[in-house]
Amino acid sequence: MKFAHDFLFGAATASYQIEGAWDQDGKGPTNWDEFTKIPGKTFEGTNGDVAVDHYNRYQEDIALMAEMGLESYRFSISWARIFPTGTGEVNQKGIDFYNNIIDECLKYGIVPFVTLYHWDLPLPLEKKGAWLNKETGDAYLIFAKRCFEEFGDRVKNFITFNETFVFCNLGYLAGAHPPGIQNDPKKYFQAIHNVFYTHAKTVIEYKKLNQFGEIGLSHVFSPAFSVDDSEENLFAAEHANQFNLNWFYDPILLGHYPEYVVKQLTAEGNLPDWSEAELAIIKEAAPLNDFMGLNYYQPMRIEKIHGEVKDHVITRENSTGSPGNPSYDGVYRTVKMVDKKYTKWDWEISSQGFIDGLDMLKNNYGQVKLYITENGLGDEDPIIDGEVCDTPRIDYIEEHLSAVKEAIRRGAHIKGYYAWSAIDLLSWLNGYKKQYGFIYVDHKNNLKREKKASFYWYKDVIATRGEAL
Ligand code: NOJ
Repeated sequence: MKFAHDFLFGAATASYQIEGAWDQDGKGPTNWDEFTKIPGKTFEGTNGDVAVDHYNRYQEDIALMAEMGLESYRFSISWARIFPTGTGEVNQKGIDFYNNIIDECLKYGIVPFVTLYHWDLPLPLEKKGAWLNKETGDAYLIFAKRCFEEFGDRVKNFITFNETFVFCNLGYLAGAHPPGIQNDPKKYFQAIHNVFYTHAKTVIEYKKLNQFGEIGLSHVFSPAFSVDDSEENLFAAEHANQFNLNWFYDPILLGHYPEYVVKQLTAEGNLPDWSEAELAIIKEAAPLNDFMGLNYYQPMRIEKIHGEVKDHVITRENSTGSPGNPSYDGVYRTVKMVDKKYTKWDWEISSQGFIDGLDMLKNNYGQVKLYITENGLGDEDPIIDGEVCDTPRIDYIEEHLSAVKEAIRRGAHIKGYYAWSAIDLLSWLNGYKKQYGFIYVDHKNNLKREKKASFYWYKDVIATRGEAL
């Protein structure tokens, strides 16, 4: 079976991880510009000041993507390039930069798929409380509207937010991302609600502007499975799904938060401060979402916790599924299993978990239009005789694209697949050590770009529409 002609083969990046040029052409500082400079926060103190300098090399990069046959490029907009302080005056050079990216894509027939928020928040907004302050949402709406006006004539796909779970979880529970707060569930649930309310207002606004495209948001997709068939672990896995899946997907797709979670948060005193009017907006927006983006890397294996758990600190880049991590409420922990395969960073490799998770989604929400907005393998790629031989990445993507094919065969409505990442870039906490790209960037040789083995492999997959998978 070949993938349908309108299925998009893509790859993704994010502004802070790829652009560099952190203060070039009027860009304002962001939360990440500040956070990565705090000693001890990132691997060897790496930061995105230069990243892979995509800001100055985008033409070369997009030409390489075109050579690979990429049909769509998912990238994010740095809010602080457009509004250097988050609100107020617009920086025309920021608008020009994204116009150039979009036009460069279109020149090669590459569909631009735009993420409006991939975690880099203008610093003045961070200082005023980031997503805990409802004014951040007001400022976001102005930013989003400006993007629709400036780019909406050529951009047909907008993602409002990337992985709310991750930036809120690591921001307010694990403390590994800005604002670096640990173990504060009250703030965690509040920030999520403020983001979802902002998402809802943005979707409604987008539809009012009568844009010709689609709008949705991207969620991390780490379905939870019990480690065994015991009643307590099955319960713990269901509990994990309620908190990590339903709490995030229900408000977007169904227009209300899951009762199970609301009940527990009420009892704990962790219910967000929300008004009836906000909840009504979330309800109104739900049917207006055009698609859901899923970022799948791994499932979670869940075990019920007995007794007290002390170590609540998660230090990995992405908390989901990190072995031993307890949930904030001490009900379950994620574990590593002896019979499973793992990456160097202990992320489980399971395309079956992907297929089963997609089945789970279908059972919960019915037929939803989906894009796989991220999937890929973080690795330290070996260089053999001057060539980057990233065979494990080829194996990983091959398995997962085959899973997408299988899910489509079973009736899932998946319209595109975006490998993470188009090119090697900055891993938020792991510097340049953890690579994901089809294109290698040589940090010892003036950031020179080289095609990896996976580049040629993906090119062939796209050219044959995945027939051989
Ligand atoms: C999730 C994020 O969206 C992306 O920024 C990150 O680098 C990858 N997954 C890998 O962790």
